[in-house]
Amino acid sequence: MTAHTVTDVPQEASSTPGNGRVRLAAERVRLAYDDTVVVHDLDLELTEGSFTAIVGPNGCGKSTLLRALGRLLRPTGGQVLLDGRAISRTPTREVATVLGLLPQSPIAPEGLTVADLVARGRHPHQSWVRQWSRDDEAVVAEALEWTDMSELAGRPVDELSGGQRQRAWISMALAQGTDLLLLDEPTTYLDLAHQIDVLELVGRLHAERRRTVAVVLHDLNLAARYAQRLVAMKDGVLVASGTPAEVLTEQLLADVFDLEARIVPDPVTGTPMVVPVRRLR
Ligand SMILES: Nc1ncnc2c1ncn2[C@@H]1O[C@H](COP(=O)(O)OP(=O)(O)OP(=O)(O)O)[C@@H](O)[C@H]1O
Ligand SMILES: [Mg+2]
Repeated sequence: MTAHTVTDVPQEASSTPGNGRVRLAAERVRLAYDDTVVVHDLDLELTEGSFTAIVGPNGCGKSTLLRALGRLLRPTGGQVLLDGRAISRTPTREVATVLGLLPQSPIAPEGLTVADLVARGRHPHQSWVRQWSRDDEAVVAEALEWTDMSELAGRPVDELSGGQRQRAWISMALAQGTDLLLLDEPTTYLDLAHQIDVLELVGRLHAERRRTVAVVLHDLNLAARYAQRLVAMKDGVLVASGTPAEVLTEQLLADVFDLEARIVPDPVTGTPMVVPVRRLR
């Protein structure tokens, strides 16, 4: 498949933030389900302390890519490197202490309470010499508080509303306390206030704790506000990468989303804001 060339933005633009140390990299990664290739020889680098939003239309391969970056899916070509080492050859526990992945539609075991789910985030840190500790307790309490879930801690996850459930999972991912955080549409089921809460929280983890974050988002305006770097995908190919202002152009929206739109400055933050006009095709 030929690569799309839809913008003038160079792939891996100069504006890649962070201190330059690559924590997680996809190298010519090809991803397939049976014989159907859905991600085509894709290169992507997440540098230490960077905050990347991955955007693109439904079905373009964002979740597939995220799962491969989190070692849930094995590439049929190329490789994923975690701190310079093939992730496929890194032991599961080691990966889980460094990298947390929140999938798009996780399913909790029936009857599991929120507190138990969030506590599972601590499992990678435990072993027969390192049992459940006060520290774990404190981390779980903090993660519940951060996601506004403390009051629902005793409730079974499968009895929560969609948005509460989503926050329970985010809480678990936070409790895992990993340097790298991959979140697949963490705001999808949330009301606008909780969307802002989650992105503010992720922003704080990134800014204050230097977490390296990649988030799949459909809300381009929020992506532009919170992420330093946007990566746009179409048909399994990375078509643009750079600052929100570099990536979010009217041309890109037409090419990637088949959408006629105006880009205006967000009145609050000055970042690009997409105002849809109409569908092009
Ligand atoms: N388990 C699977 N088996 C077969 N095909 C799959 C599977 N999961 C995804 N696909 C297909 O792979 C392609 C990419 O799917 P993916 O879930 O990565 O898209 P996405 O960009 O995350 O979309 P969305 O925005 O809707 O979440 C789609 O055509 C989808 O139908
Ligand atoms: Mg998806």
